Amino acid sequence: ISINIQNANIFLLLFSSDDSLTEETGYTTERNYYTRYHNMTEISDWMEKMKRENPDVVSSMVYGQTYEERNITLLKIGLNSTKRKKAIWMDCGIHAREWIAPAFCQYFVKEILQRYKTDTKVKEMMKNLDFYVTPVLNVDGYIYSWLNNSTRLWRKSRSPGPVGCTCYGTDLNRNFYANWGTVGVSTNCCEETYCGSKALSEPEARAVTDMLGKMSGDILAFLTIHSYSQLILVPYGHPNISAPNYNELMEVGLGAVKAIKAVHGMDYTVGTWPDILYPASGSSQDYARLIGIPLSYTFELRDKGEYGFELPEDQIQPTCEEAYAGVQHIITYAHDKAFYSSAATVTTTLWTTVMTAWVFSATLL
Ligand SMILES: *[C@@H]1O[C@H](CO)[C@@H](O)[C@H](O)[C@H]1NC(C)=O
Ligand SMILES: *[C@@H]1O[C@H](CO)[C@@H](O)[C@H](O)[C@H]1NC(C)=O
Ligand SMILES: *[C@@H]1O[C@H](CO)[C@@H](O)[C@H](O)[C@H]1NC(C)=O
Ligand SMILES: *[C@@H]1O[C@H](CO)[C@@H](O)[C@H](O)[C@H]1NC(C)=O
Ligand SMILES: *[C@@H]1O[C@H](CO)[C@@H](O)[C@H](O)[C@H]1NC(C)=O
Ligand SMILES: [Zn+2]
Repeated sequence: ISINIQNANIFLLLFSSDDSLTEETGYTTERNYYTRYHNMTEISDWMEKMKRENPDVVSSMVYGQTYEERNITLLKIGLNSTKRKKAIWMDCGIHAREWIAPAFCQYFVKEILQRYKTDTKVKEMMKNLDFYVTPVLNVDGYIYSWLNNSTRLWRKSRSPGPVGCTCYGTDLNRNFYANWGTVGVSTNCCEETYCGSKALSEPEARAVTDMLGKMSGDILAFLTIHSYSQLILVPYGHPNISAPNYNELMEVGLGAVKAIKAVHGMDYTVGTWPDILYPASGSSQDYARLIGIPLSYTFELRDKGEYGFELPEDQIQPTCEEAYAGVQHIITYAHDKAFYSSAATVTTTLWTTVMTAWVFSATLL
């Protein structure tokens, strides 16, 4: 008996959820697109599909080019409005090997595009806010991490080092104009935390900086997604400065932690970099807060080191589900604070929690 593959495909198309992608991209029969890691080609195809299927709410923008001259693309998601809209920023994949991050950006986009149709709160936020989502920021590095097993754990960009240094790559999350080069970095271009030859030496960091500069007055929350360790980091990475709204950042972060725990029982910890991870300078998160974006967070998703950067695919969905709850808590707070003045009064009480000081001396996240 020979199975008619064509009919089998049609059957799957009819009965699969809208998770499956269309024929032209070659994974017609994939029912569970969001439970797999995807290479850059697939993610680019997926971005096109999101636009095509949601032309009224999704558009894309190329806002820079990588060292290897690839486009850096974001999806802008929101409903038309006659009023001036506020914005939420999310970027994923600034560190190449943290594959769960791009997977989360894809999941997040899928979720809000589904939810706004039935969930009045998400719809309200889609009317008042535009979501600027960059699924893969470090495109060159991400592609490199997909090349073969020996490059799987690549972290940095792919620009060559300065004259006299034969290594490649700058840590893009140490290259921003935010106390650049002062702490938690290396000036050796062979190191994982090489901060570049100067602030904004890297085109990827310049692209984000330029975009934020154009939009900063409208951005309510800046969210940058990493792995691993299950942390929500608040500004700053630099140990000698403190955010003026530290209490607010912590309180909202603790709300996100609670929301995450409610989904699958996973424990996340909230705090500044020096308090719960390690100090660092030149991060995009610090830059975002320094230019006045009030809510600036780094998410370090699952796990706590068992699989590390190589999180198995069967953990993608639960990781994304819980992270979505955490993100939703933050953006709902940001939205309500901006659009309902009563919410603008921030309680200054801060729940004191016993926070474990995780020591990650060897692993850079
Ligand atoms: C990306 O993944 C698809 C689907 O597995 C595969 O067909 C394609 O060859 C991959 N592309 C690259 C550049 O690795
Ligand atoms: C939203 O605005 C864009 C640009 O102004 C327009 O092309 C599009 O048709 C509008 N969509 C809706 C649903 O009004
Ligand atoms: C890069 O972006 C530019 C401007 O949007 C576009 O014209 C070009 O086709 C894109 N290149 C690729 C390879 O997608
Ligand atoms: C590559 O890594 C995978 C997963 O760690 C392993 O199963 C596979 O055998 C490796 N392939 C080679 C050629 O080393
Ligand atoms: C932070 O301040 C202390 C005390 O003034 C100083 O010793 C240290 O060098 C500063 N750290 C950085 C990274 O600037
Ligand atoms: Zn990272």
